[in-house]
Amino acid sequence: MKILVTGGAGFIGSNFVRFMLSKHSDMEIVNVDLLTYAGNLENLAGLEDEPRYTLERGNIADPDRMNSLFEEHDFDAVVNFAAESHVDRSIHMGAHDFIMTNIYGVQVLLDASREHGVERFLQVSTDEVYGSLGAEGLFTEDSPIQPNNPYAATKAGADFMVRAACETHGLDAVITRCANNFGLYQFPEKLIPLMITNAIEDKELPMYGDGLYIRDWIYVPDHCSAIDLVLRKATAGSIYNIGGEHDLTNLDIVSLILKLVDKPESLIKHVKDRPGHDRRYAMDSSKIRADLGWEPDYSFKDAMDATVSWYLDNSDWWKRIRSGEYQEYYSRMYEK
Ligand code: NAD
Ligand code: DAU
Repeated sequence: MKILVTGGAGFIGSNFVRFMLSKHSDMEIVNVDLLTYAGNLENLAGLEDEPRYTLERGNIADPDRMNSLFEEHDFDAVVNFAAESHVDRSIHMGAHDFIMTNIYGVQVLLDASREHGVERFLQVSTDEVYGSLGAEGLFTEDSPIQPNNPYAATKAGADFMVRAACETHGLDAVITRCANNFGLYQFPEKLIPLMITNAIEDKELPMYGDGLYIRDWIYVPDHCSAIDLVLRKATAGSIYNIGGEHDLTNLDIVSLILKLVDKPESLIKHVKDRPGHDRRYAMDSSKIRADLGWEPDYSFKDAMDATVSWYLDNSDWWKRIRSGEYQEYYSRMYEK
């Protein structure tokens, strides 16, 4: 099987490339990535000499580039991770790039897949398309689509374009909607790596609002194994929720991180809240468990231990990131 992975130099995409190459000895992967601020070839270090892996720099929103890539390679399937993925950037830096990559780029890939006879298109979506839960209940695949921030709205728009390609043009497309991921190689703008790296450096930990917002956390290899199953086993047009079933407040997560790195709670600083901040996400993953037999392989405790240890042992990786464009971003978000 030869697959196109888009956004494979980012956090989840790079974990997925490694996961698939090691799990399937007959799998060939072409990774197309624009290498934005979030794309990092260090995430793929060690794969340079792997004959089943090819890297192509390119923009999924460039139809000519995508068409020539699809012509050159005869892809059996496309797994689309490429996205502008950070909610705060979509709020504070404008939605343009989010619309171009997350909606228009997806349409370019859908058209190219159709024109080149790709047998399966998998869109990696998010629980954020459902908006926010009240105190009770879980998101199911039938929950209404009610995105509340620009990032989530673009991901919802993409889901609708994927559905339309399937219903109208008969493209074999499936959608996965996953909860908040954490693990190795996550860019340190997202809650868990931001708090781990700040705590290691004795910097303040910026907690939005009261810190009682709830997220459902999943270890990235468990997300990868779910995508692998959906890619190979789901029926056309299906949608699957993927959750970690670990619903925690941000304060709980940050307190745990402080314990693991042995730093004081006094580092936590409550700051101005995120506008449109979704109060609670929690996923019902019973459909993927029942239909495809998916279950997570890792306990939350082992996964958090492994993640914190990795950031402690790989400070070169995140210090290089934090010394670049990130400084300007950090100062704009948290200092100005
Ligand atoms: P990330 O920001 O770490 O990586 C995104 C990657 O996409 C980067 O390598 C970037 O260079 C690339 N990219 C951006 N624009 C591109 C373009 N126009 N053309 C080609 N490549 C481009 O993101 P992530 O956290 O790894 O998320 C990956 C996907 O999973 C996204 O679609 C996101 O919406 C989805 N998702 C993420 C989470 C999460 O918790 N991180 C949860 C559910 C779903
Ligand atoms: O739920 C899936 C989504 O999870 C993905 O689709 C997104 O790509 C991914 O970025 C993530 O979105 P969140 O907004 O949930 O993640 P983030 O890490 O930005 O924030 C998690 C929670 O922590 C949220 O309630 C906001 C809060 N937070 C975040 C940051 C960066 C803080 O309190 N302080 C911070 O500095």
